[in-house]
Amino acid sequence: MTAEQIRKKFLEFFKKKGHKVLPSSSLVPEHDPTVLFTTAGMQPLVPYLLGEPHPLGRRLCNIQKCLRTDDIDKVGDSSHLTFFEMLGNWSLGDYFKKETIEWSFEFLTKELNIPLEKLAISVFEGEPENNIPRDEESAEIWQKLGMPKERIVYLGREDNWWGPAGKTGPCGPDTEVFYWTGKSPVPKKLEPTDKGWDEHWFEVWNDVFMEYEKTEEGKFVPLKQKNVDTGMGLERMLAVLEGKENVFETELFLPVIEEIRRLASKKDERAERIIADHLKSTVFLISEGILPSNIERGYVLRRLLRRAIRYAKLLNLKEKWYLDLIKKVIGIYQDTYPEVRTKETDIITVWQKEEECFAKALDKGLTRLEKILKSKKEKIITGKEAFDIYQSYGFPLELTEELVKEKDFEVDKEGFYQAQKEHQEISRRGAEKKFGGLHPPTTHEDKYQMAKLHTATHLLHQALRQVLGKKVHPVKSSKAGASPKAKQFNRVKQMGSDIRPERLRFDFSFERKMTDEEIKKVEDLVNQKIKQDLEVKKEEMEYEKALKSGALSFFKEKYPERVTVYSIDNFSKEICAGPHVKTTSELGKFKITKEESSAAGIRRLRAILE
Ligand code: SER
Repeated sequence: MTAEQIRKKFLEFFKKKGHKVLPSSSLVPEHDPTVLFTTAGMQPLVPYLLGEPHPLGRRLCNIQKCLRTDDIDKVGDSSHLTFFEMLGNWSLGDYFKKETIEWSFEFLTKELNIPLEKLAISVFEGEPENNIPRDEESAEIWQKLGMPKERIVYLGREDNWWGPAGKTGPCGPDTEVFYWTGKSPVPKKLEPTDKGWDEHWFEVWNDVFMEYEKTEEGKFVPLKQKNVDTGMGLERMLAVLEGKENVFETELFLPVIEEIRRLASKKDERAERIIADHLKSTVFLISEGILPSNIERGYVLRRLLRRAIRYAKLLNLKEKWYLDLIKKVIGIYQDTYPEVRTKETDIITVWQKEEECFAKALDKGLTRLEKILKSKKEKIITGKEAFDIYQSYGFPLELTEELVKEKDFEVDKEGFYQAQKEHQEISRRGAEKKFGGLHPPTTHEDKYQMAKLHTATHLLHQALRQVLGKKVHPVKSSKAGASPKAKQFNRVKQMGSDIRPERLRFDFSFERKMTDEEIKKVEDLVNQKIKQDLEVKKEEMEYEKALKSGALSFFKEKYPERVTVYSIDNFSKEICAGPHVKTTSELGKFKITKEESSAAGIRRLRAILE
């Protein structure tokens, strides 16, 4: 069975049981500020699990793109992934344990023809201290369906409790279905060993009984309605149905793994899997508009990109290896998720940039780290050392940790955060003085990126003024026939600006939405100025003189007597504290990514440099 057939079968099955199909939500949660990514299909449904009525009713199902990095160090084994697809069905206060378990069983054994003998079950052992009973009800339902008692195990919170996805929210005990992928006979019992689960037991299905809400105080309060949240990992199920012992041999991975093997001059299965997994995640993240940065989602993306680059180095992958791999991933997913195809250029550009700057730093950073390790008596890397490596070579903390762990060293993480905090405090003070409180730049690379965006902001400002133009404001005359007096002013005035290493944001006065044509004109004009390779000239002068010379100023800002004026040919002239690049050709390609309203009469643009 193919991945697409499983997707279809699943939705058809639950449609027949009265469920409505929801589209896959974005990987970036729109309404939940407590999490960075969509980690499960239930996440976009949180308000409805808490009791809000859903417009499509009480029975829903879908296929959801998910991203989880908690288990990133497990990627490389047979089944852990950072990006995966989850097939799920939900009861929002409608059916509960009996129907859920029966349908899970029916789907697995009848629709997918999985033999009962290969399956085992876990259920929740209960938590009297929290008033949560042992889940004998679920165990009985499974037994009635034919599951032998000895293959049903009771486990605790670590294994059989799910949620909340963020710090607070709906959660509950669950019952999980495991499939034995080993070639040896199915073990009589389902039991974790001292070393954890046998890798051949694949968790393929999870029925969560969401009947509690975790509160801010850490209490579990029964919900008004008893919900069901189920999840089936597509990649694992595919491996099961294709008779594979690991997810990397399925059609959702094999083309990528084979390509890695073709490009590599060394063999290391774990490294191959990590590269394949991380690369796939980056393709999806970038296709949703996320760019590498040093905070939050951008940081996770950067970590995945850099971790993949490091493993590519271990395998000696041929130069530009990622281009072929990106194509393979797009080939696998373009029919199901067309955004990976439409965003191909963005994906390649981000990879090219990240690879260019990090691959070089990686070698130097590794040499430096090697030196530090050699100089040590104790197996500890101080926080300051780890932070220096981060600052100078762009090694995410987790990468340094991972590298030194191979030699039994540890990193003083607290010390790292402390060093980072101190650094941010210093940069913040500096930045506040300089730019009036912008986010502090952290690495050299980020600083350069921000300088480029500053220069781009000036070009954008002027382009907007030119394209959206001067408005002639007619002054009504009382005498009929008299020619109206005209007052001229430029509609575009800077109202705000925020620059992060990955993008610029620009607010300006303008009374309506810009048309697509206008956006294109502005982009073209900026790109034309970039192509002309114009010098960015810096001069210091008296504030009054600067104004007289026609330099634009940001009306909210209070300026000192002497100011710096940046001019770009005779196109743009602005009072600004900088920093800027030397010539416009350094900027690359300018692209507006969003146009929206910021407040009445104020528009907001976001733009990037590719
Ligand atoms: N939320 C549960 C899980 O992620 C069931 O979908 O396993």
